[in-house]
Amino acid sequence: MLIEMPRRTEIFGSVKIHELQRVLKIDSGGFENPRAKDIPFEEIKNVLRHFAIIIPVKNEKIHLLDGVLRAIPFDCSIIVVSNSGRETPDTYKMEQDVVKNLHDLTQQEMFIIHQKDPELGFAFYDAGYEDHLLDKDGLVRDGKSEGMIIGMLLAKSLGKDFIGFADADNYIPGSVREYVIDYAAGFCMSESPYSMVRLNWRYKPKVVEDKLYFKKWGRVSETTNKYLNLLISTHTGFETRVVVTGNAGEHALTTKLADLLSYSTGYSIEPYHFVYLFDRFGMGAETITNTDADAANAGIEIFQIETLNPHIHEEKGEEHVNNMLLGSLQTVYHSKLCNDYVKSKVLEELGDILEWGKPKENIIMPSIRKIDIHNFVKMLESNADTFARFERGAIESEGEKTEHLKG
Ligand code: GDP
Ligand code: CO
Repeated sequence: MLIEMPRRTEIFGSVKIHELQRVLKIDSGGFENPRAKDIPFEEIKNVLRHFAIIIPVKNEKIHLLDGVLRAIPFDCSIIVVSNSGRETPDTYKMEQDVVKNLHDLTQQEMFIIHQKDPELGFAFYDAGYEDHLLDKDGLVRDGKSEGMIIGMLLAKSLGKDFIGFADADNYIPGSVREYVIDYAAGFCMSESPYSMVRLNWRYKPKVVEDKLYFKKWGRVSETTNKYLNLLISTHTGFETRVVVTGNAGEHALTTKLADLLSYSTGYSIEPYHFVYLFDRFGMGAETITNTDADAANAGIEIFQIETLNPHIHEEKGEEHVNNMLLGSLQTVYHSKLCNDYVKSKVLEELGDILEWGKPKENIIMPSIRKIDIHNFVKMLESNADTFARFERGAIESEGEKTEHLKG
């Protein structure tokens, strides 16, 4: 891959945020120049072998999920975490069939589990995580970030070094393939074991009067970015626009960083990555634990990459967009770094969307570092009916297959 060098890097305490980098060529010829970095495909492949891609899915068109699954590079492991309907017609069953069928044809390593599997509830309870993720019935709550946590635990149990996310509602499989390669390129450039890659799109293609129009990407993202940047600017005294990926659903991180972070619920999980890192590792922050000190010494690197492919996904309406804005700005509002000036700006911005007097605090799920991963997965393997694992390479006999695919 040939990728632009970041023009600048904003250093905020131990957090290093690189300016947006464009993908110049997905496949390149080994020509280095001062403005671009060439990353040989072999290096990218080395990262892919230690990579798990998590696909959160809730009632998406099955053809879209199928395309996304087929697009993920073979060397990665795939983990599908579904919160789709189980009533007839059983959407989850369809998803499981698609995964199984693709595994039969490709022998790629794949896992699928349902978010509401009661055994997941027990496993989280056993891990002492019940207050953070479960509802009153002892099941995992609804929500994309809740699904992402499940996926991250499975990725950890596989001993993966890198964890990435790909939405299931993407219309262009070729773009999903590029995202994963872009993630890997980011990790090839990283100098710290604590790093994250976030993707950015230039355009949001729309059909306007029968023609394809390349509209600039996202109103919500722009607003989220503005306030995340303001948190930095008000502390350094220098205006910055470095953050352009506040709402990047498509992102990846090292397992070491995944263990370090706490996670916000719903659609505020992505902007909260920044808020958490600013609060804990930003300018003037004090490190508390040894792990924190290790990360602070190594530095936490954030790469932002502009993809070559556009992003075309399912449109989910105005309400969804407003919830995303509210979730994002709530995390900013409750940041330790948010001073009265930024607070008043956030309130002004939210205006009508805000039904209560003040922005609520999002529920924060603490680090998953302490969860005993072997015990967690052992519980799922022995009892979770919706959990199906398809290992890489082994051509199984019929008997073994039904053993793996319970339920
Ligand atoms: P947007 O693209 O950020 O506007 O958000 P989407 O609504 O497309 O959601 C992103 C991804 O998360 C999609 O693949 C959804 O199907 C999936 N998703 C949404 N809600 C849930 C949920 O409660 N659980 C899981 N596991 N996935 C979800
Ligand atoms: Co989407």
